[in-house]
Amino acid sequence: MAIEIIAHRGASAVCPENTMAAFERCLQLGATGIETDVQMSSDGRLVLIHDETLNRTAGAPGWVKDTTYEQLRSLDAGSWFHSDYAQEGIPSLEELFDLIQGKKILLNLELKNGIVGYKGMEEKIVQAVRDWDLEQQVILSSFNHASLVKCKRLAPEIRTALLYMEKLYRPYDYAAKLEASALHPYKLAVTQEEVAAAQAQGISTHPFTVNDPAEMQALIQMGVEAIITDVPDVLSALVGVHSR
Ligand code: G3P
Ligand code: MG
Repeated sequence: MAIEIIAHRGASAVCPENTMAAFERCLQLGATGIETDVQMSSDGRLVLIHDETLNRTAGAPGWVKDTTYEQLRSLDAGSWFHSDYAQEGIPSLEELFDLIQGKKILLNLELKNGIVGYKGMEEKIVQAVRDWDLEQQVILSSFNHASLVKCKRLAPEIRTALLYMEKLYRPYDYAAKLEASALHPYKLAVTQEEVAAAQAQGISTHPFTVNDPAEMQALIQMGVEAIITDVPDVLSALVGVHSR
């Protein structure tokens, strides 16, 4: 089975992360999936940005949670990367849905609710996925596993994936208990035995963030079903899969 090439924050090595430019570019570079980070504005709109604060990628003070959607949309989310991208804003979730609609692209929505507890976020994401008929294409992930259990209760038909940095004891058993479909471990927390044990329970393994070809190769040999990478072109060349 072909490995899924999941572009981390879009084509984030060559474009500003989590912008429409990054999402469009990754599809040209052979990505078969997109990972992005979802947060909520102060007035409850779902937006795509990694940090909880705005200063690094949007050049503004304050937190996403304290900023209205209109204010967020007025910010420049591209210049920090390169002046060529000064027109890039913070995308809404719907903009990304619009881009992938009708395409066979896997969409990994990471709920960034480990530090900020966004009230009602799970309900809003589930509703949006259903409204756009993307239940089969979406995987919801988070470091906040309680939030994933909530998502699963709200929407048993949408896959969930457990994010973790450090090793877990029998992560496949834990995933099964939480009715998660996949493990999203930091790349150094993966072993061949655990990949095989997960597969035996119908749970796939999608490590992050893997940019080195030798590391990609090693993980492919361990049997992982997907790799989350900043450089989808490098992984695409390695596995010989081209954009769909
Ligand atoms: O979803 C994989 C990866 O994105 C998790 O870490 O900090 O890059 O969002 P982070
Ligand atoms: Mg992420």
